[in-house]
Amino acid sequence: MKLLAFAASLRSGSLNQKLVALAAGLAREEGAQVDLADFREFAMPIYDGDEDAANGLPPGALDLKRRVEAADGLLIAAPEYNYSVSGALKNAIDWLSRARPMPWRGRSVYLLSASPSPMGGIRGLWQTRIPLEGCGALVFPDMFALPHAKEAFGEDGQLRDPGQRERLRRELAGFVRLAEAVAPLCATARGPGPAAPLRPQLMTALESETELQPPGHG
Ligand code: FNR
Repeated sequence: MKLLAFAASLRSGSLNQKLVALAAGLAREEGAQVDLADFREFAMPIYDGDEDAANGLPPGALDLKRRVEAADGLLIAAPEYNYSVSGALKNAIDWLSRARPMPWRGRSVYLLSASPSPMGGIRGLWQTRIPLEGCGALVFPDMFALPHAKEAFGEDGQLRDPGQRERLRRELAGFVRLAEAVAPLCATARGPGPAAPLRPQLMTALESETELQPPGHG
């Protein structure tokens, strides 16, 4: 089980990067191999249809696409901006949605957020589900929003509050187990397996594009 983990923040000292690093460690304890990335590795311009038509995905988006495709699932920590999805993440989702097969399709996703506010970014996570699910990602029902995040981490990078620590551990264990179970059913699984005959039907159900999404590349 391979996971790609990143925080959708470009800021050094990002609270979401701290949170996703913690989540990556917990997923490793559950047996997952985790590729922990820095979102700055995937620098890309704002989506531009002319640029897309002329040159396709820019290098940063292609790098992210390759890293997503190498994984069965993702851990994404996304800041809430103005009650909604982080612009940098939405832009990356949009660029990758132009590739075929859609890289998000059939991949399990666990969403997290850290914010100095008392809400922890949960409103942004509800918005973040929408484009990911629209692109065929299997977003885990539970999401982890960390409020008062500036005070939430100890010197060791762990969460100070034992209740929050335990909830994150328990949810990640559940996510890793479900992602493992789903991966052989989806196109993300490499090689044949007992579930291979089910894949065409599932992949048809998780459309690579809907009539609302224009034809992409590949
Ligand atoms: C924010 N922040 C914020 N927080 C929140 O809980 N709800 C919100 O709606 C917003 N909106 C918002 C808009 C903009 C433009 C900025 C710059 C910030 C605060 C945000 O959660 C905080 O800056 C986090 O620290 C950002 O995440 P990283 O960069 O620390 O990972």
